[in-house]
Amino acid sequence: MTLWKYESFIPVEKRVSLNEGGTPIYRLENLQTELGMKELYVKNEGANPTGSFKDRGMTVGVSKALELGMDKVICASTGNTSASLAAYAAKSNIKAYVLVPSGKIALGKLAQAIVYGAKVVPVRGNFDDALNVVVEASSELGVYMLNSINPFRLEGQKTIAFEIFDQLGFVPDKVILPVGNAGNISAIWKGFRELYEAGFIDKLPKMIGIQAEGASPLARAWKERRDFKPLEKPETIATAIRIGNPANWPKAWRVVEESGGVLESVTDEEILKAQKMLASKEGIFVEPASASSLAGLMKLRNEIEEDESVVLITTGHGLKDPNIILEGFELPEPIEPSLEAFKEVL
Ligand code: F0G
Repeated sequence: MTLWKYESFIPVEKRVSLNEGGTPIYRLENLQTELGMKELYVKNEGANPTGSFKDRGMTVGVSKALELGMDKVICASTGNTSASLAAYAAKSNIKAYVLVPSGKIALGKLAQAIVYGAKVVPVRGNFDDALNVVVEASSELGVYMLNSINPFRLEGQKTIAFEIFDQLGFVPDKVILPVGNAGNISAIWKGFRELYEAGFIDKLPKMIGIQAEGASPLARAWKERRDFKPLEKPETIATAIRIGNPANWPKAWRVVEESGGVLESVTDEEILKAQKMLASKEGIFVEPASASSLAGLMKLRNEIEEDESVVLITTGHGLKDPNIILEGFELPEPIEPSLEAFKEVL
């Protein structure tokens, strides 16, 4: 199954696909017991073709580019968007330009953008700086821009909501997900709203957005009940969401308000702990940004009723950023290839 199952809800004709969507939803039996909850699920977007939810946006966004006759596409990215755009551009025989913050992109994502054949341009600056260049370049150089300010991206990503309802058969009380440039939270909400307006569902979930503490301009403004202010120097090990000026912030803010949700932040330590828990207790390896949804749930646990159903969205595969695991781990000395030597280390 791909997300094109929902093509009547998608305002673009399918022109390029790598069989994206149809990702698994898992009941977290071990973690739900540990956290004293009745119904805890994860929708694992790492199972998409290039390992992140971005593929949902790109199948639709690049299809739109092809419809418009564009032969060059561009994005700024913390990594996943660039990997995804590069793959869909390759499949479409068009050229992709990706601008990434120099030195701050996870190894696997960089390798993906390179091998899919994109022109990879490192920028001296962060994601926000790179996005400014891309916005200018796209209008001046006639290159089609595929960051999440492009509405067709969100039309693909909204299918996460459709699948959650399809797979569970009901609407969860709460959906928790990481927030970076703040596109996905708005996209998923749009999906639920469309189901609601079409009469398929009669309730809506509360949307809970989680930012990394060092890159949490939205969560800070929310918690301090003040106006949004961009953050000059965002910093977090969750490089995917290392963003100080989320382009879609007004939309995301409205979504959280309208749904009755919250915006929260979690520390890098909490993120790494959640990443390990998800892998070692449930067999699901996600990248740090994705683990912020579980970290956020643990932080907000007291605000969630025991019988509420919660879906965590994990947005990207753990293998994209192997360094984060290996940096804090030392392999033991090798043993001689004998049963005796093996018994000794047991
Ligand atoms: N999780 C992962 C793994 C991401 O790569 C991103 C965004 C997000 C969450 C946040 O989603 O921006 O819609 O709020 N990554 C972008 C990129 C910025 O360039 O790959 P958002």
